[in-house]
Amino acid sequence: MRPIGIFDSGIGGLTVARAVAEALPEHPIFYFGDTAHLPYGEKSPALIRRYATQITRELVRLGCGSIVVACNSASSNALDAIRSEAGESIPVIDVVHPVVDAVAARFSGGQIGVIGTRATIDSHWYQRLLEARGFDVVTKPTPLLASAIEEGFHGGEVSDALIAAYLESGEFNDVHALILGCTHYPLVANQIAAALPDTVALVDSAEAAAQALKRALDSLADKQAAKGGRGDRFMVSDLTESFSLGAQRFFGKPVDLVEHKLPSATG
Ligand code: DGL
Repeated sequence: MRPIGIFDSGIGGLTVARAVAEALPEHPIFYFGDTAHLPYGEKSPALIRRYATQITRELVRLGCGSIVVACNSASSNALDAIRSEAGESIPVIDVVHPVVDAVAARFSGGQIGVIGTRATIDSHWYQRLLEARGFDVVTKPTPLLASAIEEGFHGGEVSDALIAAYLESGEFNDVHALILGCTHYPLVANQIAAALPDTVALVDSAEAAAQALKRALDSLADKQAAKGGRGDRFMVSDLTESFSLGAQRFFGKPVDLVEHKLPSATG
């Protein structure tokens, strides 16, 4: 089986890698966290595209047979560039389309909320795709949440206070569902749920993206040349102790992070 390449700006995308590992246990995972350039949520679309393209090129060079863009900021701003870098034979799964499909399968019309980084919300990508399916959309950037979670502030007072500050204006109280449009947010999903009325369903990207990948690989099964013998690899562009310690929280089990420099990386 050719490895599945999964990337994010940092270690938050390990929430998606975890769902992929559970859905497709027979495929090795090559994960790349671009920790040297974190956070993507504050970068321009052009820079996000450049980073995402370089990572895609490297994952393909390393032999990956599919790519999962485990970052909403990159999915919203760089999907076309990633697809054209990967080429037609390599399926690319982003985290936005599968979530929009999941929402459309569950609700018919009404209001849907989205929170995410500035890059994700400012791209209006979720909004455009949801409006095309007939939903009214309420969005809000919640930029401090991903950094706080990456620093280990989840499940306690700091993240509770941030969530309260972002949600207190009440614009999400009447939505059918709130999309957690950042791959870090599953770690605070319970706290977000507690801050909203029980009528609001929370939707996160990990499971939806994993199932979309499974469908794509099933339909390509005969074209995936077996390579065999390779285990999972968890790479970051800049390795620090805090990323090493944090990785297990996102993946749900121990992760051996190694530093891996992109051959063409600049900036
Ligand atoms: N994990 C990224 C996302 O899903 C957010 C973190 C960042 O800003 O780099 O958008």
